[in-house]
Amino acid sequence: MKTAMLRSVGAALRRSAASSTPSTPSHLLRRSCYSTGAHPERKVTVLGAAGGIGQPLSLLMKLNPLVSSLSLYDIANTPGVAADVSHINSRAQVAGFAGEEQLGKALEGSDVVVIPAGVPRKPGMTRDDLFNINAGIVKSLCIAISKYCPNALVNMISNPVNSTVPIAAEVFKKAGTYDEKKLFGVTTLDVVRAKTFYAGKANVPVAEVNVPVVGGHAGITILPLFAQATPKANLSDEVITALTKRTQDGGTEVVEAKAGKGSATLSMA
Ligand code: NAD
Ligand code: LMR
Repeated sequence: MKTAMLRSVGAALRRSAASSTPSTPSHLLRRSCYSTGAHPERKVTVLGAAGGIGQPLSLLMKLNPLVSSLSLYDIANTPGVAADVSHINSRAQVAGFAGEEQLGKALEGSDVVVIPAGVPRKPGMTRDDLFNINAGIVKSLCIAISKYCPNALVNMISNPVNSTVPIAAEVFKKAGTYDEKKLFGVTTLDVVRAKTFYAGKANVPVAEVNVPVVGGHAGITILPLFAQATPKANLSDEVITALTKRTQDGGTEVVEAKAGKGSATLSMA
């Protein structure tokens, strides 16, 4: 799959900001109206904003100084989430949208769209078991994206990411809006986990750890490259194998600990 797996949503925002610096030719600027601060105007839309991931993600987006407009969409319950988040004294102007008839308004003019809409796993399920329901959700959201904000960077969180990203790509291709540089499967959590687990075993400060993780976001398609991790540590093959397995099974560890009440939400956000 050529489409990038996104190891950081912040990176997408920075990429979006970098793509329209003042030196960018004016015909290429989409939302180039600079505010009085150092950061340009940026609209971020969260689809599935009232959910387990959506709520803390919306909180974090409200705290992000790169965001000037925050649009929160879900099939229900977004007015309450939006009212709550809007009281935080940070830059972003918040608006809540509920129900399909408001989806277009939620998306219009978005620079970045983040999609945590869909059902999460229960113990005993694989991510692929979510395909039937989440494929349809993602497909209809992507059709709306291609219509209302075809230039947005799209960050796919909904599982199975290894399949929802290709679904999004096909929808955008059909609509004539596909750009492989603007569609991302969000696999940041694999990096987050690899760093945390490595720091524990290597006994190094976690803030200094870097672990490259490549591949997709399910089981053995998650490939943490612990041999390239820094700071270097003399870990045995057995420990590296165990760290690899724990990173690959990190999602299942949370699903089982939550015992039927969903999957990772806070670490994901
Ligand atoms: P959740 O059930 O708590 O929230 C999902 C939200 O999506 C709900 O508020 C629901 O109303 C909303 N929704 C459903 N259909 C919708 C539609 N058509 N339009 C807009 N919103 C819609 O679930 P969650 O825990 O937030 O997880 C969401 C998804 O993220 C799951 O598929 C889960 O597997 C996935 N996930 C991915 C990662 C990752 O690393 N990529 C990590 C954790 C979870
Ligand atoms: C995760 O890695 O935590 C997510 O993909 C959710 C899941 O179902 O494992």
